[in-house]
Amino acid sequence: MSRSAHPAGPRHGDVLPEGHYAAPPADLNVLDPKVWARTVTRNGDGAVTVGGLDVARLAEEFGTPAYVLDEDDFRARCRAWADAFGKDADVFYAGKAFLSRAVVRWLKEEGLNLDVCSGGELTTALDAGMPAERIAFHGNNKSAEEIHRAVEAGVGRIVLDSFQEIVRVAHIAQSLGMRQRVQIRVTVGVEAHTHEFIATAHEDQKFGLALAGGQAAEAVRRALQLDGLELIGIHSHIGSQIFDTSGFEVAAHRVVGLLKAIRDEHGVELPEIDLGGGLGIAYTSDDDPREPHEIAKALSEIVTRECEAAGLRTPRISVEPGRAVVGPTAFTLYEVGTIKQLEGLRTYVSVDGGMSDNIRTALYDAEYSVALVSRTSDAEPMLVRVVGKHCESGDIVVRDAFLPADLAPGDLIAVPATGAYCRSMASNYNHALRPPVVAVRDGEARVIVRRETEEDLLRLDVG
Ligand code: LLP
Repeated sequence: MSRSAHPAGPRHGDVLPEGHYAAPPADLNVLDPKVWARTVTRNGDGAVTVGGLDVARLAEEFGTPAYVLDEDDFRARCRAWADAFGKDADVFYAGKAFLSRAVVRWLKEEGLNLDVCSGGELTTALDAGMPAERIAFHGNNKSAEEIHRAVEAGVGRIVLDSFQEIVRVAHIAQSLGMRQRVQIRVTVGVEAHTHEFIATAHEDQKFGLALAGGQAAEAVRRALQLDGLELIGIHSHIGSQIFDTSGFEVAAHRVVGLLKAIRDEHGVELPEIDLGGGLGIAYTSDDDPREPHEIAKALSEIVTRECEAAGLRTPRISVEPGRAVVGPTAFTLYEVGTIKQLEGLRTYVSVDGGMSDNIRTALYDAEYSVALVSRTSDAEPMLVRVVGKHCESGDIVVRDAFLPADLAPGDLIAVPATGAYCRSMASNYNHALRPPVVAVRDGEARVIVRRETEEDLLRLDVG
């Protein structure tokens, strides 16, 4: 590929919307620590290493595509969340972001609890030895069988999401001669995403029971009457990839309003409040997430202030970060297969994975960054679109990114911040084989979820 075919800087002309891409970074070889896992670095000869291991050697040993997860970083983030909230609060890792037996063991060792939202996640958690009392069970349509298993196992809390479920859980608990600790999930009329939140009109969703119109208060009334239930608190989850606490402020204000109404009506002060997850991470250098200790301070101040104003004892707070724990700890390692230059339009770099290992770009228009990791390059930056190998034009991994103009088939590139909602939302589209998750730590690499094989595919196909 000739350099002249790739003049520096954006060259898609009018094809991309104004402002959709930034100027190229000063040096493409520099890996921004904001978006890369903590132990990722370039060594003296330019190779990228993680956990002390050269990524090219990881690719040789484990193949590509592969999710590479920095175990030290994961553990450090667990500790940061646990320390930030301290002993008077509880942090539940949201397993939907990424769950495996190894992850469960790390959570257990580093003092985090676990939020699961399906029978499959519950089985993984219990199988890997998470004590049931440290598990919260979520979901807007848990089956009777899932509820039975959760109650029987002794999960610490079930988060109730509908009138039907209040009765179902109560009956199942009673039939087992148990009393299940529960929270009620409410919708507070706030939806938060990144820097924005909207404080009206978001009761129109499948989750929770609305505060507005009194459904939540009615749910509390019913739950308090049932012997099989011990109502311990109110739960609210307001959105995803949130960078600022103003949405939580409104949510806490409204939840505390309900706690006060419950005290006034029933003479009961519920001891817990769960503010859900949704804390944002840096996918690109433009993102500036807040640290766990800042979030913990802000949330506990908000709840304390609201409770003092309402004349209530401050309840125990819990939160459920998923993305903010695991997201930054992994990157996806791909090999470049083809490079196609459409003169005057765009340059497509195809990798050996795609929407089957990262659906987020196609599904949410998510932004990612990307870097050449098998070598350094002094070539000028070229604006590219990184795409996968699936039979669909929407199969985009990174919409607009700069890679060096001498990029060639066989080079390894990596997309950082893919620890959350990539492997957990991976699919077998086109009978793709879902990539492995390779955990690295202190110079050692270990497969924690193995690569799928064609035998795995055929094993399910029993026709
Ligand atoms: N708690 C509840 C009740 C939730 O519904 C969720 C996420 C979380 C905690 C964790 O949220 P996090 O801290 O990870 O943002 N697939 C989407 C995200 C869906 C999140 C659903 N609920 C994505 O890839 O962005």
